[in-house]
Amino acid sequence: MVDLDNFYISLFGNPVSHSLSPVVHKIFSKQINIKYFYKTVLTPKNCLNIFLKKFFKEKYNLGANITLPYKKKIIQHIDILTNRAKICGSVNTLKKIEDNVLLGDNTDGIGIIADLKRLNFLKEKNNILLIGAGGAAYGIVPNLISKNNNIYIYNRTFYKAKILSEKFNKFGNIFYLKNKTIKNYNFDLIINATSSGVFNQVPDIPKSIISENSYCYDLCFKKNGRITPFLKWCKKHGSNYLQDGIGMLVCQAAHSCFLWFKKFPNIKKTIIKLKNKIKI
Ligand code: ATR
Repeated sequence: MVDLDNFYISLFGNPVSHSLSPVVHKIFSKQINIKYFYKTVLTPKNCLNIFLKKFFKEKYNLGANITLPYKKKIIQHIDILTNRAKICGSVNTLKKIEDNVLLGDNTDGIGIIADLKRLNFLKEKNNILLIGAGGAAYGIVPNLISKNNNIYIYNRTFYKAKILSEKFNKFGNIFYLKNKTIKNYNFDLIINATSSGVFNQVPDIPKSIISENSYCYDLCFKKNGRITPFLKWCKKHGSNYLQDGIGMLVCQAAHSCFLWFKKFPNIKKTIIKLKNKIKI
């Protein structure tokens, strides 16, 4: 039986068991005083479209989040894209506008900028190394580039870094780096936008690019007070400024919540509550 006041939201991805989004949205639901339930759906390869169609057929299934590895692949199944989703070619939030009409948005970019500002990690005219060229990287590049920074893309699979930087180079200073040249650069901010942490791995980057003044940010995070493999590596090689993606998780989720319910939750309070809940 569906309670008529309840809404249902799902997160589609693979893997999803590590996700803290259900905890974040439970906090939001209380804060904004709207009853909605958020669950994760482990989505096997080639099942995304079928799962989405089935989910959105139900009347009270209002919205969804999309996570790795589907943020780019999802685009073909969406009817209307917001401008920011169009620009980055990547979607993390869906809303059912009417029956059979899905709106796709991307709140990752606005989420990371809000969090980097909150942490005072984002300055003007900085050299930023962005590691990764998947859906998460596409989501955040347009927002990073608009801050007058130099963005350097580095990815395990080199040609994807090239494609990403060429897609956005009309918007600002964005370059791609090869394995051999990355060691010649210094960076003010290093962002890990790969999914390596999910698999307990660290991207293959030279330790010489880290100094005690490097700000290191990992989109990934670990529960129970554990540090991510990437941040552990950065700490080992001298960085004093380390932050994981908990804040970004909350910021992007708040913008998704706003898209679904037109109410904006309190970011600071949610981060504190979330950290207490998962004992970070
Ligand atoms: P997401 O939506 O999280 O970006 P994705 O689109 O599947 O997920 O992209 C994953 C990114 O993490 C890619 O840049 C991937 O590199 P490849 O293009 O070479 O596949 C990167 N990645 C995943 N595991 C990695 C690892 N162990 N080391 C370095 N990069 C890794």
